[in-house]
Amino acid sequence: MRITVTVNGREYESEVEPRTLLVYYLREHLELKGAHVGCDTTNCGACTVLLNGKPVKSCTVLAVQANGQQVMTVEGLEQDGVLHPVQQSFWEEHGLQCGYCTPGMLMSAYSLLEKKQDLTEEEIRKGISGNICRCTGYVNIVKAIQSAGRQMAEKKQLEQNQSEVIGSGN
Ligand code: FES
Ligand code: FES
Repeated sequence: MRITVTVNGREYESEVEPRTLLVYYLREHLELKGAHVGCDTTNCGACTVLLNGKPVKSCTVLAVQANGQQVMTVEGLEQDGVLHPVQQSFWEEHGLQCGYCTPGMLMSAYSLLEKKQDLTEEEIRKGISGNICRCTGYVNIVKAIQSAGRQMAEKKQLEQNQSEVIGSGN
């Protein structure tokens, strides 16, 4: 089947077998290896990507279901060589060890933080409950997500202040 999928803002047209899973489409057809396959059975969350802004386990979605849709993978977080706050915070707060779960963790965290930046520990733990990390435990992951939330809120506030200054100059 011929499908057209927009991934990280770029449109791709590809020929896929109807049984191809989205994660394999991303990894093998598009060479976007960020989404990992940890279990293939919808348990671990390492394959999490956003489909039309919502987190999905891409081992559980067929590539053809993404036809005409928008996908965001972990490769779409960094912009112009600058890490997204969620990436920066995982690094600074030691939110990863082997890194296998990290792309999925980052996408789940990003999706949570886009909606609300000042998340409680309970909200974060609930929000990432579909993502399993076998290395770190979750303490540093929670800290990283809280830190990213603070950075995102500060950035938002700064942008708001700047637009008010520009607005008052007119
Ligand atoms: S590989 Fe998709 S949930 Fe584990
Ligand atoms: S850092 Fe190794 S599985 Fe999470």
